[in-house]
Amino acid sequence: MDAPSRDSFSGKFGVIAAAAGSAVGLGNIWRFPYVAGENGGGAFLLVYLGFILAIGLPVMLSELLIGRKSQKNVFGAFKTLAPDKPIFMSVGIMGVGAAFMILAFYAVVAGWTLEYTWLAVQDGLAGKTSAELSTLFKSFSSSTVGPMVWMVVFMVMTAGIVMGGVKNGIEKYTKILMPMLLVIIIVLCIKAITLDGAEKGLLFLFQPDFSKVTGSVILEALGQAFFSLSIGMGVIATYGSYIQKKENLLATAFSVSVADTLIAVLAGIAIFPAVFAFGIKPDAGPGLVFETLPNVFNQMVGGYLFSIAFFVLLVIAALTSSVSLLEVVVAYFCEELKMKRKAATALAAGLITLLGALCVVSQDVFDVFDKTSSTILLPLGGILIAVFAGWVLGKNKVKEELEAHGGKANYVSVLIFVVKIVAPIAIGFVFLKGLGVLELIF
Ligand code: PHE
Repeated sequence: MDAPSRDSFSGKFGVIAAAAGSAVGLGNIWRFPYVAGENGGGAFLLVYLGFILAIGLPVMLSELLIGRKSQKNVFGAFKTLAPDKPIFMSVGIMGVGAAFMILAFYAVVAGWTLEYTWLAVQDGLAGKTSAELSTLFKSFSSSTVGPMVWMVVFMVMTAGIVMGGVKNGIEKYTKILMPMLLVIIIVLCIKAITLDGAEKGLLFLFQPDFSKVTGSVILEALGQAFFSLSIGMGVIATYGSYIQKKENLLATAFSVSVADTLIAVLAGIAIFPAVFAFGIKPDAGPGLVFETLPNVFNQMVGGYLFSIAFFVLLVIAALTSSVSLLEVVVAYFCEELKMKRKAATALAAGLITLLGALCVVSQDVFDVFDKTSSTILLPLGGILIAVFAGWVLGKNKVKEELEAHGGKANYVSVLIFVVKIVAPIAIGFVFLKGLGVLELIF
């Protein structure tokens, strides 16, 4: 039985919608294209897809089962399941730290999205050339007041939803809006591939050039896989703790991973043809989406309404992810530090807003938070989660939790092999190689 005092998701679609809501966000539409663009395109995509399947999915499943088995926040989960192994509590500590860092820069980018929504409403993007749109983004994102105000607005929205609690807050919004986002992106893809010169963009995204694969490209792909799936830091474990025993965890992990990957690849298909058609550099960095897509809207019939719909949905996708990040911190403050939910939310959101302000004024802080969280904290958390499921819980307990809904988990041996051996070694290797540590040793 579920502990009655804990909030829980109402059913299958609610669970998937909430977890997919966390996974699908700026990571797919803003971060994936910009990181793929910086890391050579096709080969990056291939490595990324490999990581989603071989490492992302098993780690997500491990996180879900750790959360549901313990019925605790990420910190309390490991404490309850293995009180004699304090090392695993570092997952909780790193996770809360990662939530702080990620949400800080995430809120800044979400703030840019709010500004672009506002610009779209005023028809302020229309009639501009590609060069003008690039300048517009650069001058806006390097200014202070506008980005700061929008970042704060976004944090207030996030805190408002988290204060409402899991079921009323998080679940309600994702159910209808995620499918709408998917439709909008598909329409954008269709428009993008009919642009003059679209083939170049599609080749960039789908034709792997293996000479571009270096240690750091592989590490970026791993980091992006973790970031995009929201794994390695306790978001999925925290959501797992709200999932009822009757749900099938493998089906949940699988649906979420597929939805997340689909949206990222579709975002790539919408963006790269336009990147080449409008003479933008694929490695233009974090501004890529904002500099590229307004060009596409400007060429569309009904581009005005369409651009508003796109940015509004992007804000909402960002919100369903940011609430999951804040929820990790709030669940920790409430359950471990015994704070009241409202006070915990206000405190956490307040502190993160201060870090966000640092990201607004310093590009370096922004970059350090962005890269450190995804290429260091999340993979390290991923190793510990996999090791915990494989070595500490072990096959029998894992099987028991995966079969709690009444089905048979006959894939459990494969899962255990992956989380015990393959994932820790692969992540560890990619990690050391990407950071250049292996080159120092050999
Ligand atoms: N996965 C989210 C996205 O792609 C970001 C995120 C990362 C959310 C880590 C929670 C935890 O936008």
